[in-house]
Amino acid sequence: MLINRRTFLKNSVAASMTFVAPHILAEDKNKKYRTALIGSGWWGMNIAREAIKSGKCKIVAMCDVDRNILDKAAEEVEQLTGDKPTKYKDYRELLDKEKPEIVINATPDHWHALITIAACKAGADVYHEKPIGHTINEGKAMVKAARDNGRVVQVGTHRRVSPHHISAMKFLKEDGAGTIGMVRTFAHYSRYRSRSPADSDPPEGLDWDFWCGPAPLRPYNRRIHPGGFRQFLDYANGQLGDWGIHWLDQVLWWTEEKFPKTVYSTGARHVKEDNTDSPDTQVVTYEFESFTATWEHRFYAANEAEKHHVGCYFYGTKGTLHIGWQDGWTFYPVDRWDRRRRVAEKGKIIHEEPQLHTKSDHNIPELWADFLSCIKSRSKPVCDIEIGHRSTNMSLLGMLSLKLGRSVKWDGEKEIIIADPQANKLLSREYRKPWVYPEA
Ligand SMILES: NC(=O)c1ccc[n+]([C@@H]2O[C@H](COP(=O)([O-])OP(=O)(O)OC[C@H]3O[C@@H](n4cnc5c(N)ncnc54)[C@H](O)[C@@H]3O)[C@@H](O)[C@H]2O)c1
Repeated sequence: MLINRRTFLKNSVAASMTFVAPHILAEDKNKKYRTALIGSGWWGMNIAREAIKSGKCKIVAMCDVDRNILDKAAEEVEQLTGDKPTKYKDYRELLDKEKPEIVINATPDHWHALITIAACKAGADVYHEKPIGHTINEGKAMVKAARDNGRVVQVGTHRRVSPHHISAMKFLKEDGAGTIGMVRTFAHYSRYRSRSPADSDPPEGLDWDFWCGPAPLRPYNRRIHPGGFRQFLDYANGQLGDWGIHWLDQVLWWTEEKFPKTVYSTGARHVKEDNTDSPDTQVVTYEFESFTATWEHRFYAANEAEKHHVGCYFYGTKGTLHIGWQDGWTFYPVDRWDRRRRVAEKGKIIHEEPQLHTKSDHNIPELWADFLSCIKSRSKPVCDIEIGHRSTNMSLLGMLSLKLGRSVKWDGEKEIIIADPQANKLLSREYRKPWVYPEA
């Protein structure tokens, strides 16, 4: 459905004004950042719409290796703004010719590192999607590129700016749940498919070789693109890489500890029979100094038996806090045993609803506002690349342990696995030529 341009701009600028830091508005009312979108698919366009709504960005260029997706996305930008962004297939050409001030990188995970590093080197500030990379050393190289080039790199872990997440963290930090000994993070969805589409020629307009880029060149299959790459391990890291980063990021936000000491994962494809290759069942255990965290997912049997499908439970001496997505947060206090009456007395459950924006059901405008504000002040954004790197490492260490079939001891300062050359090899991966693995 096409929205009338004037109505869109009127409604959206008004709606998002409150999220833009006041000093940005005051300093240069007419300034619009030359913004480029690389990866113009579903999520990239969600971010681009928010960039437009901020009233501070002009989408000057768009890039996608799939012409069909690119044309449709560029048409929408033109409808919304009246601007005609220049269209590119090759991000290197875009960076070279357009010299954007802002790059939105919303490509599949296997492309994240090369594009963001190139954008940093070209002098752009970057809004970079999660998980930040496909292997751990890519993340290291991205942090280095951001720092060496003095760039602001915001990662799209928007839950750090969602009001109900902020208040849940405040509750935990003010000892609302008491001393926490365990955190359980999870996502249980039932997207179970038994049949698979056959491999085929790529659709006209899609450069499949370029899409695969530094990753192995597999035959085209419509389950992979668009969107489905998440469940193919050549291009992503399954449910742990896709959803896990959001919830494991909450653990690192809450704790004073920067990384786990030991990581162990088990998992398999017990149920799925389709052509994806990611585990449909996975459990990861993270040992920190002062608590234990776990990740769990299964791709079947989501139901009401466990109340919440997605999120994290913080288990403390005063009770359990669940932080979720569309279900806000809920605190379940511990029962108090009344010895005289010999009954368990139930404490009062506390609940807070989420404040998500309709349409995307997220809090992207707040994250975009923080990004713009940091571009002005040249300070680190709320989801700085180093924070995203540490959170992505949680997911990637889980996958690494699963592949090895044993636990690993992680030195998060040196970013190496202790005394384990075989495991350390998995911190990087071979790139398909001519692409070169980024050095940190
Ligand atoms: N923060 C969040 O909550 C959130 C939500 C959804 C998706 N995401 C992330 O956004 C990214 C994109 O996900 P999506 O669902 O939009 O996928 P998608 O497949 O719909 O879109 C990705 C687009 O990138 C294009 N692309 C691939 N290689 C490219 C290249 N080298 N140059 C330019 N374009 C290229 C593809 O053709 C595709 O159109 C993923 O990393 C995903 O994890 C984040």
